[in-house]
Amino acid sequence: MMIHQFQILGTGSALPPRRVTNDDLAKLVDTSDSWIVERTGIRERRVAADDVATSDLAAGAIRRACTDAGIEPGELDGLIVATSTPDTVFPSTACWTQQKLGISGMFALDISAGCSGFVYALELAGSLLTSGRCKKVAVVGAEVMSKVVDWSDRSTCVLFGDGAGAVVIGPTSEARGVLGAHWGADGAHARSLYQPAGGTAMPASEQTVRERKHSVHMQGKNVFRHAVGQMASAAQAALQEAGMTTDDIDVFVPHQANLRIMEATRQRLQIDNQRVFSIIARYGNMSAATIPVALDEGCRAGRIGPGKVVVTTAFGTGYTWAAHVLRW
Ligand code: UT7
Repeated sequence: MMIHQFQILGTGSALPPRRVTNDDLAKLVDTSDSWIVERTGIRERRVAADDVATSDLAAGAIRRACTDAGIEPGELDGLIVATSTPDTVFPSTACWTQQKLGISGMFALDISAGCSGFVYALELAGSLLTSGRCKKVAVVGAEVMSKVVDWSDRSTCVLFGDGAGAVVIGPTSEARGVLGAHWGADGAHARSLYQPAGGTAMPASEQTVRERKHSVHMQGKNVFRHAVGQMASAAQAALQEAGMTTDDIDVFVPHQANLRIMEATRQRLQIDNQRVFSIIARYGNMSAATIPVALDEGCRAGRIGPGKVVVTTAFGTGYTWAAHVLRW
């Protein structure tokens, strides 16, 4: 049974040009290339310039996805931006993105579901297409994590990177789109990975700045443990809904926070390494941008294309989790 029938018309990504290597980080904090590679699989990450906001990357990724789809951004019926690092608390990053694309009229909204954000957003966009409400929607995961990271905290600053990835989806009469899906959340763990200040719970003050409450606070081990279990079980549930098993997967694109998390998830699902598409070594954890950038690079590398069964699975702040079985 097809859950959401749509075609991925185009993909695109936008990565800031500045590369920051592990050796560069070792000049800032007490760390080393060997520790970071061994514990996370990350070798370098991209870091946005001071004057680049999340919407700049989102607009770049959407522009490329539209070019790939052969349409103008103005032809979109809507855009959904998944991000945890919005340009401003309000308005939405989607509205800033519209402004930068020079388009208006269509709906524009943000989804805040951390690293699961892109899968959440694609699930919503898919249902808008299935309902007939929309014809062409851009879904983008975009983050500038470097501006919410505490660059003096070695346990978090080595993990994250900046980037954006987008897809444009449209209607089709073929059996393509979402074959199976699963999503969920558990707010009991909200404090395990969060940015304490800047919202209504703890408005910005001199004290919040002094105490570095505007940056990522994470209980790494707790996140790690839950990530492996939830990413594996979300993928299993989506496969079950699709009436498939892991043997049916052509390409597996897990959220890429830590190579060890990806590896443990892959082992639980008993998927061989050749079917995993990994970009973590070059980009680190780009939160909601990780999966769509991997999908775009997978298309460019010829690994993902029409007819392929692609499984995505993600886990992030909230906690949230989400998985899709897609027929490309
Ligand atoms: O997308 C979801 C968001 N985040 C995640 O998914 C992250 C999930 N968690 C993780 O990836 C891992 O827990 C980390 C990579 C964050 C940490 O790895 P770990 O194997 O759990 O290390 P640890 O926290 O147990 O730390 C081991 C040691 C500690 O030293 P002591 O206490 O044993 O002396 C840390 O202080 O490693 C130390 N350490 C570091 N050493 C060098 C922590 N960060 C670093 C570092 N360089 N960057």
